Amino acid sequence: MSNNSIIAVAIDGPSASGKSTVARLSARELGFHYVDSGSLYRGLTWKCLREGVDTEDPAAVIELVNRTKLDFFVEEGAIRFTLDGEDPGAQIRSMPVQERVSDVAAIPEVRARIVQHLRETTRFGNVVMEGRDIGTVVFPDTPFKFYLDADPEERARRRHQELAQTAGDTTVDNVLASLQRRDRKDSTRKTAPLQIALGAKVIDSTAMQAEDVVRIVVAQVRGALSAT
Ligand code: DC
Repeated sequence: MSNNSIIAVAIDGPSASGKSTVARLSARELGFHYVDSGSLYRGLTWKCLREGVDTEDPAAVIELVNRTKLDFFVEEGAIRFTLDGEDPGAQIRSMPVQERVSDVAAIPEVRARIVQHLRETTRFGNVVMEGRDIGTVVFPDTPFKFYLDADPEERARRRHQELAQTAGDTTVDNVLASLQRRDRKDSTRKTAPLQIALGAKVIDSTAMQAEDVVRIVVAQVRGALSAT
């Protein structure tokens, strides 16, 4: 397990595989803190864009990351953070951040720094953390690893539905192309590519409701805890 008696539940998978909903609901059900690891990569990407730092220039990104102070706090069951005292809020979901976050997430020095921050979130207590490398890199020793997947078309349909509420006129085909571009980058990068962790339970959620997936996650964690 991660840190003495602290429990970390790792939920990995590609974009729009349902990780966020499942991780958030599982955390609530278990009384653990929810951590969205992608929000750290997005937050630092937002900061780069705001300061005019070219995300394709690793040295400049590393310099920004090294001088940016992250402070973590708990809000409504989730672990959140500020960057140099500022909360980027919903701006981390904007299209410019979306299109560049894979560049930032591919830089090994940035990943090392973020992995350290993610491990330290357990000082607040037990966590359910979603991402791409939680079971492989951040908490490789946790017995609670899940890999969520769904058909690309279903993932695009779900993401399109989410985006329709904020970003209007994009098509499912555009969303599918963007998801596949990002999946390709995330799965082929040299450092901590998206892959199924050893021992992870793989769940294909294409034809499942989020609540059904949550039930599987919660039952596995509760089952293991009650057996100890
Ligand atoms: O999960 P998300 O879409 O918010 O992730 C944003 C980006 O960050 C995505 O390109 C993958 C990357 N990421 C990562 O490399 N490792 C993580 N643990 C979480 C996200």
